[in-house]
Amino acid sequence: MICAGLSTAQTAPATDEQIWTEFESFSQKLTPQAPGATAGMRARYLEALKANGVPQAEAVRRYDQINTLRRASVEREKVYWDASFKSGGGPSAPLRLLQEALYKVKPGRALDAGMGRGRNTIYLASTGWEATGYDMSADALKVAQGEAAKAGMKITTVEAKHEDFAFGEDQWDLIVCAYCYMQPSDARWPPVFLKALRKGGLVVFQTSVGGQPSWSGLSENWKGFHILRMEDLDAGVVDNDWAPSRSYRTVALVVRKE
Ligand SMILES: C[S@@+](CC[C@H](N)C(=O)[O-])C[C@H]1O[C@@H](n2cnc3c(N)ncnc32)[C@H](O)[C@@H]1O
Repeated sequence: MICAGLSTAQTAPATDEQIWTEFESFSQKLTPQAPGATAGMRARYLEALKANGVPQAEAVRRYDQINTLRRASVEREKVYWDASFKSGGGPSAPLRLLQEALYKVKPGRALDAGMGRGRNTIYLASTGWEATGYDMSADALKVAQGEAAKAGMKITTVEAKHEDFAFGEDQWDLIVCAYCYMQPSDARWPPVFLKALRKGGLVVFQTSVGGQPSWSGLSENWKGFHILRMEDLDAGVVDNDWAPSRSYRTVALVVRKE
């Protein structure tokens, strides 16, 4: 049987270009799964390759390679995330760091950057925040709006990339970045957040890091903020709730605009 986007049986090691073309074609033909399903893209992909006669070891190699190839550009990341959200994609419970950071904080206007299917945006709306989120994956936003409607919550969603979203000025009381493909050590974002937040506004940031997180220069990057919480969480010590089965190191940061 010819399966999801794979037109010929391929048993030989594929080149990077073939792997990416094959993955794009596979992702275009994915049918969405019910929201709340656990992420199943890897299993579906391996199954499609197996049905096409690709040996297991080569299929696993191709999938692992996709995780490298997708990082080459934002456009590729979008293809990957659209496919991921059609396959269920990610946890549904709100981020624990966010819940802890908001203890006794008066709700206001919140922005969820790279919101995915909106677990944190919907949580914020349910606790009295006026919640807006953006993501580059239209599939993710569709799921988020569906989930919000089911929960009887109103959220605003915007299809945008970090690079082109209009963060504005004095707009937000909270910016959330949960595994949103920004890094706290990236000097580009703190000035954007500083401008976009109202005085006293918070940034709640949690993400995986490959290897040792770089804190050097962090206080310089986050100038204008008071650092309330900054943690380098060893793999296995704390839950990385996006990828609990993996042993990614995780950083958590909560800062307040002074
Ligand atoms: C690991 S998911 C996290 C989703 C959500 N924040 C959560 O915690 O459930 C990463 C999300 O970042 C989005 N993303 C990655 N790069 C992006 C970019 N450059 N601009 C906007 N969204 C991006 C992906 O589409 C995906 O929804």
